Amino acid sequence: MESKTSKVGVIGAGNVGAAVANDLVLLGTCVTVVLYDRTLAKAEGEAWDIEDAIPLLEEMDVIPTDKYEDLADCDVIVITVGVQPKQGQSRLDVLDQNAEIITDLIKDLDRVAPNAILILISNPVDVLTRIAIATSTRSENLIFGSGTVLDTARLRYQLGKLLNVSKQNVHVYVLGEHGNSEFILWSSAYISGILLTEFPLPPGTSLEIIKQNYSEITRKRGSEISQRKGNTDFGVATVATQLIDTILRDEKRVFTVSVKADSSYGIGDVVLGLPCIIGKQGIERKLVIPRNPQEQHQLEESAAKLEEAYNYLPK
Ligand code: LAC
Repeated sequence: MESKTSKVGVIGAGNVGAAVANDLVLLGTCVTVVLYDRTLAKAEGEAWDIEDAIPLLEEMDVIPTDKYEDLADCDVIVITVGVQPKQGQSRLDVLDQNAEIITDLIKDLDRVAPNAILILISNPVDVLTRIAIATSTRSENLIFGSGTVLDTARLRYQLGKLLNVSKQNVHVYVLGEHGNSEFILWSSAYISGILLTEFPLPPGTSLEIIKQNYSEITRKRGSEISQRKGNTDFGVATVATQLIDTILRDEKRVFTVSVKADSSYGIGDVVLGLPCIIGKQGIERKLVIPRNPQEQHQLEESAAKLEEAYNYLPK
């Protein structure tokens, strides 16, 4: 199987990077994981802790390093570096600090691993992905961000719980910024093949109440977790691992990743969470999903906010 010859790089051995590396090993997603951190001891500490379990799992190598050269010939590289928003900060509040880190990093990755697919997780993920695309010499389909994949999973989880149906049968997308201006595409929310508008709801609730409450729960979920444990890591790490898996197996699964919007959305070159088919070429197809006038307006508002944040940066 193709995935069995594959090598995945993880940049940053903080909470998120370590969680990604551990997930890759637990799931047997690839054969080699290169865990990079500029502090070698940090990379070693996490890599050694993770590799100790390999005799209980599938054969695999976890290589700690502080040298970008070790990322050469990686198929996929996940970027987790940067500061996380502190309590009360939005993801966009850490843009200045992380923009510089990402620009420098992309230049190094272009030098050592010009053909790898890059997945950004660092926040604000949409703007950082746009910076990465603008900086990199590699083709645009080889760079994308985790976008609203986690927000979509969070919403599906909560709706599945509310409606007492498997979360896998909840089909609905969160689109736009991975942040406060994200929105839910309620017009195409289905439970199995049944439109949510026609699905029996629990007594005492209504679609309007659900829409309002679950938009808010989804938008605030990341900060609710951070308030309690200081940061988020497991959720987004699983997102990264699933994105890597669909690339290595060429599965062509659909995820709402951060990409430059297709021109038919009418929002220019902004990068935000939209549904795409992901396979071994990275972004293989950008899907244009139907939306009602209100949803188009929400998309435009989210795009305007991200455009403003991007333009504000010194070029
Ligand atoms: C979160 C981070 C990844 O939402 O932004 O958990």
